[in-house]
Amino acid sequence: MWSFTAAVVTLWSFAAASGSWDVCANHVGLLQLDLSLTPADTSLAVPPTLRAAEPLKFLHIPKCGTSFLNAIVHTPSLCPDLDWRYEVNSDVLSKSFERDFWHECPQVCNQSRFECNSASQTHEGIGSSYSSYKGHLITMMRQPEQRVLSAYHDARFDHGASRYPNVSAYAEGVAGLVTCQLTGAKSVDPVPQCGELQKADALAAAQRLREGFVFVGIMEEWDMSMCLFHKIFGGHCWHSDFENSRPTDPEDTSPYNVSELEGFRDELDGLVYEEAKRIFREQLVAYNVSTDSCAGCWSFRRASGVVETNLHGAARPMAMARMAMAWSMALILGILG
Ligand SMILES: *[C@@H]1O[C@H](CO)[C@@H](O)[C@H](O)[C@H]1NC(C)=O
Ligand SMILES: *[C@@H]1O[C@H](CO)[C@@H](O)[C@H](O)[C@H]1NC(C)=O
Ligand SMILES: *[C@@H]1O[C@H](CO)[C@@H](O)[C@H](O)[C@H]1NC(C)=O
Ligand SMILES: *[C@@H]1O[C@H](CO)[C@@H](O)[C@H](O)[C@H]1NC(C)=O
Repeated sequence: MWSFTAAVVTLWSFAAASGSWDVCANHVGLLQLDLSLTPADTSLAVPPTLRAAEPLKFLHIPKCGTSFLNAIVHTPSLCPDLDWRYEVNSDVLSKSFERDFWHECPQVCNQSRFECNSASQTHEGIGSSYSSYKGHLITMMRQPEQRVLSAYHDARFDHGASRYPNVSAYAEGVAGLVTCQLTGAKSVDPVPQCGELQKADALAAAQRLREGFVFVGIMEEWDMSMCLFHKIFGGHCWHSDFENSRPTDPEDTSPYNVSELEGFRDELDGLVYEEAKRIFREQLVAYNVSTDSCAGCWSFRRASGVVETNLHGAARPMAMARMAMAWSMALILGILG
């Protein structure tokens, strides 16, 4: 083990000396963590909270963190046939990476520990299935006006936007989408099919969130959400947890300008979102999660080649070199371990 640590440090120093790895000096601490991140990761201790919540069921609200799947699949024992190099993204899978993943999910994940979603209905409503999912559900929530703007401006998927003349008409048309997904049985993408929703529906949705979900993450607090998720369910934080957070680019973390919506507000989903934030804060306290206690987890943000690849075209070769290095270390670890 120690001779191997030395070997990795040597490898790392070499990369630094050759100038291909500018942030190298900051990452010696990560090496110790890397040693435990072998493909045998799945043998890690499984917390009782996870055992009690199995099979986990991911409610995927449109535009709310497909890459949350990266944290899920690397949770110990859920998907024992995946090693930690696997990522649900277009580098590892195709451009339709979420659908690809749900297709192979039954082969690579243990469905008595993690229930695979249908590849054709990734945004299903849990309506009539709620009683069987209760106590197993996990999700990511997003501020409603931000969610709808993100859906409208999605360059890859339409989400029903082309059916409406402009963005505010679209927002009106899909208002209450999250309420509908939590209480109705049909898919909410491209558009929700719950008819006219009332405040009572939103209250029922909020109640389901509180009583039926074992984890409610918040998109606006992505890093804290990933840290909390691992505190509750175990497993290591890893750079793919942060693929979407893009912490180094202020432009990417700034929200959409809601003035486009001409004053539209999604009152019902707003109510559900407020409850989500309350649940989130309560869990942070219950699991003693704070900026301090997340420092170790967050050190993986800087180890991410993918984040920088997305952000700065010019940084790509360096980021790729970094990824290649990480992958070869993983291989060596696999062989030695
Ligand atoms: C799947 O999980 C169940 C427990 O929920 C366990 O008994 C079984 O051995 C697991 N299968 C594999 C292949 O790990
Ligand atoms: C958007 O479309 C709606 C419905 O057709 C219309 O009433 C509204 O004036 C439009 N808004 C803008 C800014 O064009
Ligand atoms: C949002 O857009 C409006 C209209 O274009 C503009 O007046 C306002 O300054 C923008 N707000 C921000 C925070 O950029
Ligand atoms: C909470 O975490 C802090 C570190 O951030 C630690 O000092 C403290 O002992 C922890 N408290 C509990 C109750 O675990």
